[in-house]
Amino acid sequence: MRVDWLSLLAFRSYRTLEWSPEPGVNLLIGPNGAGKTNALEAIGYLGSLKSFRSSPDAAVITDGEESAVIRAGLTSEERSRLVEIELPRQGARRAQVDKTRLKRTGDILGVIRVVAFLPDDLDLIKRGPAYRRDLLDVIAVQLWPAAYLDQSEFERSLRQRNAFLKTGRRDAATLSIWDSKLAESAGRVMARRARVIEALSAVLSDVYEEIAEDASVVTFTYHTSWGGGELRRASAAEFADSIARALEESRRHDYERRMTTVGPHRDEPGFSIDGHETRTHGSQGEQRTMALAVRLAAHRAIAETVGESPVLLLDDVFSELDPDRASALAHSLPPDTQTLITSARPEDIPISGSVWKVGGGTIE
Ligand SMILES: Nc1ncnc2c1ncn2[C@@H]1O[C@H](COP(=O)(O)OP(=O)(O)O)[C@@H](O)[C@H]1O
Ligand SMILES: [Mg+2]
Repeated sequence: MRVDWLSLLAFRSYRTLEWSPEPGVNLLIGPNGAGKTNALEAIGYLGSLKSFRSSPDAAVITDGEESAVIRAGLTSEERSRLVEIELPRQGARRAQVDKTRLKRTGDILGVIRVVAFLPDDLDLIKRGPAYRRDLLDVIAVQLWPAAYLDQSEFERSLRQRNAFLKTGRRDAATLSIWDSKLAESAGRVMARRARVIEALSAVLSDVYEEIAEDASVVTFTYHTSWGGGELRRASAAEFADSIARALEESRRHDYERRMTTVGPHRDEPGFSIDGHETRTHGSQGEQRTMALAVRLAAHRAIAETVGESPVLLLDDVFSELDPDRASALAHSLPPDTQTLITSARPEDIPISGSVWKVGGGTIE
């Protein structure tokens, strides 16, 4: 799948942008602040309905404008598709595919799949667990677009339960209602995370070995906050049961803390190399190699699952890597994949492609 053209209105620094990337490797070169990340962010948004910088929607609308529009011509499943998303400052988002308005914006997901690699990802292992939870959830949406609804529902239920706990009222009947709603969506989120881990585990060691040139057994780790530590494979209903029990057991504690202290939002995903937790035992080099390997493994797993190679976005990643790791990454990039790479310094990118000059509000 690929982006044939991109058209932006009032998106970040672009009042308007018309750009047609090439199907293969595209190098976007320009000084800091030129708008390189903004262009990739718009494409990322089409694939995940959120900013890969974890910015709220309002932040991507050009200052002083009322709404941003991302429009694109995409090729997916050998068909041309015209997609459009409008993000208003007030009110709900609107999405269209081939000029037909979608009832639910989330239905646009899956038209294009995107895997983004950002400089912050290099610290994936060192960062807080929220970052790694988000990684699993973002990949879940690329694998199975319906995961988006499950995640939105879970977040909504969590906000509602927390809002109730904030009031300080101790009312078991009301809390039970929030508990069962929360447990049900949490169970679905957990089932997805477990399947993401399964799908990626099958390729993670291979990809790690390609980059590190070192055969190690690389695995995911996942400590649950709600069900006896390590994650085991289970159905959404089984996860929901365990989480419902944990919610009930933590009631007194939750009343006191006035928030939900157990659930998928408190879990700790991680990685291990040859049985050692990477976060606590890995060298900086191993941690960075792992960060690269996870994204590439995600790309490979999604390509295998959907039968088409997702668009790959590499934002300013090469300049952060030492030359050996940069060249290992360049060699491991998937073939036949539309790849968009940004950098302020073209000499940092050890791979050739169509060169675009970014600056002054345009890409040429
Ligand atoms: N909502 C917005 N409205 C207008 N300009 C914005 C908005 N958000 C970011 N920018 C501008 O975008 C520029 C940064 O663009 P970015 O794509 O991050 O640059 P880089 O080429 O370094 O990746 C900054 O000048 C910033 O002020
Ligand atoms: Mg940037």
